[in-house]
Amino acid sequence: MIIDGKAAAATLRAEVAAEVAKLARAPGLGVVLVGEDPASAVYVRSKNKACREAGMLGFEHKLPAGTPEADLLALVRQLNDDDSVDGILVQLPLPAHIDTNKVIATVSPHKDVDGFHPENVGRLASGLHGFVPCTPMGCLMLIKAVRGDLAGLDAVVIGRSNIVGKPMAQLLLGESCTVTVAHSRTRDLPAVVRRADIVVAAVGRPNMVTGDWLKPGATVIDVGINRGADGKLVGDVDFASAEGIAGAITPVPGGVGPMTIACLLKNTLTSAQRRQG
Ligand code: GUN
Repeated sequence: MIIDGKAAAATLRAEVAAEVAKLARAPGLGVVLVGEDPASAVYVRSKNKACREAGMLGFEHKLPAGTPEADLLALVRQLNDDDSVDGILVQLPLPAHIDTNKVIATVSPHKDVDGFHPENVGRLASGLHGFVPCTPMGCLMLIKAVRGDLAGLDAVVIGRSNIVGKPMAQLLLGESCTVTVAHSRTRDLPAVVRRADIVVAAVGRPNMVTGDWLKPGATVIDVGINRGADGKLVGDVDFASAEGIAGAITPVPGGVGPMTIACLLKNTLTSAQRRQG
């Protein structure tokens, strides 16, 4: 079975739009892009478009690559103080001269729709309510749509980034999975992956996970967005060899990507509901 992330995302976006329509004021999302990274520019444009389609306001702030850190922090504080802004997203990666952790910590935890602020990271780890990062949140929704109750299942997350791997592991742990976080130093990765009922691949290595690594029937979530030599998008999973072994698998594109944006809208809605409620 191929998991249709586009359809799942369309359903979630329609649900969000219906809730937005009930609010007295349209939710606002401040999106900050520093520099001209083409991939980031594409993401930021689609985030703004999705906002408008859900009845939200997107406030786009494009800053030149050489923007001093102090200017970026000042903009973030201005968005923190702006009552028409319910969510703030600073697109990563930031240029090397800017301290990313400092920027993340400056975003108000109450507007941190990316779920990157240390307070929200801690809340997720403690099982408390807070903002959950959009990509792992979308992955979990897809996994639950396929598997239902996840309790007791073996889950392997490949990759340990703050944006995907670590929060994904926390979410699966919260669902009572037995969670393994594998990474570049893991020994015998194929053997580790072969134990998994659920595989989430988030490493950024094109076609790394092949069908012979998979337990038959496994649910495979491919977070990778890699550009092949021919310019086409390919995931971290070799779809051709994995498709016949996996019980369910996400394609690239059309799998996790659309869910990330839908979850961003969901988080922005949640923030607006809390702030207006
Ligand atoms: N860069 C790659 N993924 C993300 C994300 O989810 N949020 C932000 N802000 N930047 C990213």
